[in-house]
Amino acid sequence: MPDKANLAQKFSQIHEYWKPCIGGGLNGQQVKLVKAKGEFVWHHHENQDEMFLVVKGRFRMDFRENAGEGARATRSVSLEPGEFIIVPRGVEHKPVADEECWVLLFEPASTLNTGNVVNELTLHELEKL
Ligand code: NI
Repeated sequence: MPDKANLAQKFSQIHEYWKPCIGGGLNGQQVKLVKAKGEFVWHHHENQDEMFLVVKGRFRMDFRENAGEGARATRSVSLEPGEFIIVPRGVEHKPVADEECWVLLFEPASTLNTGNVVNELTLHELEKL
C-alpha cells in the first residue's frame, strides 16, 4: 500500500547543495528534492520541461537568450515558498539561491541536472531517499 511522505523529513536526509535526491516517481517522472545555495550552472534541456517548486527559502531563476561565455541574464524570476515555475525545454536557465533553499523538482527521471552541460556538478545517478 502506498504511504505518505513528509518533505521536512526527506530534506533532513540531504546534506549537500545542488545534489538532487529522488523523493518519489510516477509515470516516468520523478519528484526530486534539492537543497540549493549559491549559483548553479547555465544550461538547457533539449527535450524536457522542468518544474521547480520552492518549499523553503527563496530562489531565483535566471534566464538568458544568448548562450556562451559572457552572456548575461536577460530575465530573472524570484520565487517564494509555495511558488513554482516551469522552465520549458530549450530555454537557457540558471538556478540561484542567495541563502539555503529547498526546492522540489518535477521532471522526467531521465532529465540530467546540468542539461546540455557536463561538468563537476553533473549527476548521472541520483540517491533515493
Ligand atoms: Ni535545468
